[in-house]
Amino acid sequence: MATPAYISASAKPACIQSGPACPSFSGLRRTGFEQCMRAPSTFVDLEKVVACRSSRGVVTMAGTGKFFVGGNWKCNGSKDSIAKLVGDLNAAKLEDDVEVIVAPPFIYISQVKDSLTAPIQISAQNSWVGKGGAFTGEISAEQLKDIGCEWVILGHSERRHIIGESNEFTGKKAAYALEQNLKVIGCVGEKLEEREAGKTFDVCFEQLKAFADAVPSWDNIVIAYEPVWAIGTGKVATPQQAQEVHAAIRDWMAKNVTPEVAKKVRIIYGGSVNGANCAELAKQEDIDGFLVGGASLKGAEFATICNSVTAKKAVV
Ligand code: PGA
Repeated sequence: MATPAYISASAKPACIQSGPACPSFSGLRRTGFEQCMRAPSTFVDLEKVVACRSSRGVVTMAGTGKFFVGGNWKCNGSKDSIAKLVGDLNAAKLEDDVEVIVAPPFIYISQVKDSLTAPIQISAQNSWVGKGGAFTGEISAEQLKDIGCEWVILGHSERRHIIGESNEFTGKKAAYALEQNLKVIGCVGEKLEEREAGKTFDVCFEQLKAFADAVPSWDNIVIAYEPVWAIGTGKVATPQQAQEVHAAIRDWMAKNVTPEVAKKVRIIYGGSVNGANCAELAKQEDIDGFLVGGASLKGAEFATICNSVTAKKAVV
């Protein structure tokens, strides 16, 4: 991809930049947006909603990609517990129109691959930034391909904020993984203090830009929006909060990559998704699936989350 013409990292989606129907805002602190988006009760209100939605440009077109659900098992499990989890996944009935992946810890990938009969692909949770060699403790993209792994999760907030991986390093990892024919789940998301400071979009756009600067194509990338304050905390973003950021991400992609990529790329939500809250989240226009941590360790509940594609289909 030729170097895209980026707008400034602080640029805001067209819908919420200015104008009477769609007031200006800073980060997620905007005034009147809820009024703009609420169900119309009068003809004037309806006009406002139409004005708001159409001023989002391509964002009026929600994603067109297949619903996607990933289970990120993180640093959990043993041979026995993973055998049980795979057994439960094999016994579950998964809808056809959802793409499902699971990401076991590296050392269990082969066990999972050899025992999984359900239509589920395998992902790693990380990969090295370049070719293998003298990098103690690392696993290369080539090695992942060698054992039949198809996906890798990169830029997860636990790697960014606990291990200290930068935006630029994460972008390079994505580029290298893609070059080795791994598909990438690229994560972005703000910390609580960043949200409270009205910087949610700025943080997400900077993280996206680092991916965009590094990768040659978005064909094999799924974007995961995972607000850090919602990960593993039981504090899920409301469907409206998640939708708002997903729409902004899609808008950023349209303006800074291409409208076609913005339409095609899957933008999935992660952060305390469970069997009880997935259906409401799935109904949101720009939520194309989920990245699930804790609840992906329970086979039946994870299957419920995968099958929330039925809730999505009910509203489209
Ligand atoms: P959680 O984790 O579902 O346990 O919040 C999500 C993730 O980290 O991908």
